[in-house]
Amino acid sequence: MEPAPSHLDTPLPPVHVAIIMDGNGRWAKARGLPRTAGHKRGAEAVRRTVEAAREMGVSTLTLYAFSSENWKRPAGEVTDLMGLLRLYLRGEINNLHKNGIRLKVIGDRRRLGPDITALIEDAESKTADNTALTLVLALSYGGRQEVVEAARRLALDVAAGLILPDDVDEDRFEAKLFTAGIPDPDLIIRTSGEQRISNFLLWQGAYAELVFIETLWPDFGRTELEDAIRVFHGRDRRYGGAR
Ligand code: FPP
Repeated sequence: MEPAPSHLDTPLPPVHVAIIMDGNGRWAKARGLPRTAGHKRGAEAVRRTVEAAREMGVSTLTLYAFSSENWKRPAGEVTDLMGLLRLYLRGEINNLHKNGIRLKVIGDRRRLGPDITALIEDAESKTADNTALTLVLALSYGGRQEVVEAARRLALDVAAGLILPDDVDEDRFEAKLFTAGIPDPDLIIRTSGEQRISNFLLWQGAYAELVFIETLWPDFGRTELEDAIRVFHGRDRRYGGAR
């Protein structure tokens, strides 16, 4: 019999990869450049990584692009980051759509301003039926804030008599999160050598494998994604069960 084609031996990629993109500032500092230069190169790394994830067969890629806490950064840096985001949304949507990528934004989008909110809404509706990859951008996102908001929404349902307090369970809670309908991340990668979760996907990441890599985000791309997925495949996932 013919030997099986070698691709059959290749393990399937994780369904959902989430990335804490860190190290733009250090990348720029090491080159004597302003922080914005690091963010700009970071946006290029976003493009490379989205393309690589789609080609590798990842189903969902979540990128932590702006945290609830990032609003505390100097006003100029926030403006620059919002500018990059605007450019990305304006410039990339047709490309994402052409490549079958669905865009979804999680976070407190009311804080992003009306023009960015409108761009997000257009992009989400334009790409809603795409199936090659779901790209989730976490913007003005905080895990604790998301959990509190879900609790508040459930409380409203109880107050309105739609459900009883005893009906509150994990499924109903999940349905109130920004990520309702999106599978939990299998793998969370953080770049730049920091080993923290920093308020990212606190509920959803309960059983995610964590991979911390030294590469600074602007240098991240296909090779680094492949390496992290290789580390993930070497892990023994037990979800709290016995070995
Ligand atoms: C962390 O680096 C990165 C961010 C706070 C922002 C991430 C933004 C981008 C990758 C670019 C724009 C995004 C999109 C989706 C177009 P840092 O500034 O905390 O780096 P440092 O820890 O070295 O100072």
